Amino acid sequence: MQILFDGDPGIDDALAILTLLREPVDVLAMSAVVGNVPVETGFRNLRDLVALAGREDIPVFRGASRPLVRDYVFDPMVHGVDGLGGAKLQPSRAALQEEHAAIALARLLAAASEPVTWVATGPLTNVAMVLGLDPSLVRKVRRLVVMGGSTLRGNVTPAAEFNVYVDAEAWRAVLASGIRPVMVGLNVTHMVGMRAEDFAAAEQIDTPVGQVAGTMLAYYRRVSTEQDWGAPKLHDVVALLGAVSPELLEVRPAFVDVETGSSLTYGMTVADDRAAADRCNCDVAVDVDADAVKRRMLRALRSY
Ligand code: BDR
Ligand code: CA
Repeated sequence: MQILFDGDPGIDDALAILTLLREPVDVLAMSAVVGNVPVETGFRNLRDLVALAGREDIPVFRGASRPLVRDYVFDPMVHGVDGLGGAKLQPSRAALQEEHAAIALARLLAAASEPVTWVATGPLTNVAMVLGLDPSLVRKVRRLVVMGGSTLRGNVTPAAEFNVYVDAEAWRAVLASGIRPVMVGLNVTHMVGMRAEDFAAAEQIDTPVGQVAGTMLAYYRRVSTEQDWGAPKLHDVVALLGAVSPELLEVRPAFVDVETGSSLTYGMTVADDRAAADRCNCDVAVDVDADAVKRRMLRALRSY
């Protein structure tokens, strides 16, 4: 399986990245997008995480620094100012890729020998830009698996989930491109929370990767407790493992659209699972094997 990873690291993105880099897949490239942190910070985190994983052979690109239409507003509350809850990483020594992610990914997709699996754990700005550059690239994507949206309530506002809220226009553009994403929304990621025994298992990993993961998880746990959010959720790990191992997710076809016009519900995903089959444009995740996701992530973290 050939994979492209796009994200906004971000603590749960970072855990997804460290998990991905131990999976038996061929990672063609990774890219950073504005979201949890400004893109400069996310790009640095991504490069340093790839270095920590010993995978500097993978090209890493910097993508969009702002959403397609709206302004970006940085809020450090959930992931910290550095995006990684204060975890200290050795700076990557890999050569800096100067090419913009959208151009690089369009180039790589066009050249791909087989359709690729694309996983996106941040706002869809980069994905929308690639498909805007060359709409025919839809044919080169086997599956686009996206963490974002919700069939229930949001987390930034009562209606909107964070990744969609940052760039709802990008989501709309991706849905209009004819690609049929797998939407891994809060309705399933909220089933995958870190419990006390999961934290205990992570804390026992006495390696550089274990220390980074431990610092990030401790920060994430503190914020979740302070905000009364319950068990910290592994949103992006669910999407990542759902991309690598589709059997971990149960999906249902639906027609999905995204609100971009209302100030009250901007970024809300509306999923109609009563739509006729030929109108469905999305496969919406409705259930997940939560224990398997946590087991696979912990196994990956232990394996470094
Ligand atoms: C999503 O928003 C970010 O805070 C997380 O990294 C995840 O991708 C959850 O709403
Ligand atoms: Ca993310």
